[in-house]
Amino acid sequence: MHARTPRLALREFTTSDIPSIYALESLPEVVRYQTWPPRTLAEAWTVVHEIIANRERSPRQHVELAVELHDGTFLGRVGAWVDEGKASLWFAFMPDAWGRGYATEAMRAFIPLLGRVKLEIECDPRNTGSWKLAERLGFVKESLTENVKEVKGEWVGSLVYKMAAWSKIENDLGHGTGI
Ligand SMILES: CC(C)(COP(=O)(O)OP(=O)(O)OC[C@H]1O[C@@H](n2cnc3c(N)ncnc32)[C@H](O)[C@@H]1OP(=O)(O)O)[C@@H](O)C(=O)NCCC(=O)NCCS
Repeated sequence: MHARTPRLALREFTTSDIPSIYALESLPEVVRYQTWPPRTLAEAWTVVHEIIANRERSPRQHVELAVELHDGTFLGRVGAWVDEGKASLWFAFMPDAWGRGYATEAMRAFIPLLGRVKLEIECDPRNTGSWKLAERLGFVKESLTENVKEVKGEWVGSLVYKMAAWSKIENDLGHGTGI
């Protein structure tokens, strides 16, 4: 699975991406709102091998693509867990790539690849970058639940955004091709 945008290429992961995932997820600011601590190189190895192994499963439920500039510079990852016509989405980009619209551009190319599924983005309410991205993509806030999980010693809530209607996706993002 792959996609190309004016500035970006989305492609499948390979084992050569282990240093890039380590560079991304060893940064405290990137995993600040995740339950896990910054990843070690060994954990990055496991993450990439799991992504590759999950790709072979049928039906493919875990979809994860690397995002890079056309010159091959790694920027981040976009992913989805797809189950029974619903997809939960996530994304993480290198901090020096924030604030340039790369994540928005990547997600607009990624979502149609998932086909006709209902879409959800769940995030920590403190994660402004995440929920602003959801809104930029046309997602609508569905719920806010307080104190659902502990993240790095602090009890935090869960903010859920949903894509209101498939027609909205078609209008904004183009037609899906399916997995
Ligand atoms: C979530 C995350 C990907 C958002 O990154 P981001 O840089 O804010 O998102 P984008 O790449 O779409 O950039 C949007 C910003 O760039 C600006 N921008 C500049 N050029 C732009 C363009 N051509 N198109 C769109 N936005 C553009 C926008 O105004 C916006 O800035 P603002 O929020 O100050 O208004 C990033 O914060 C991240 O990787 N965080 C760590 C991982 C994480 O927490 N993931 C979420 C788990 S749920």
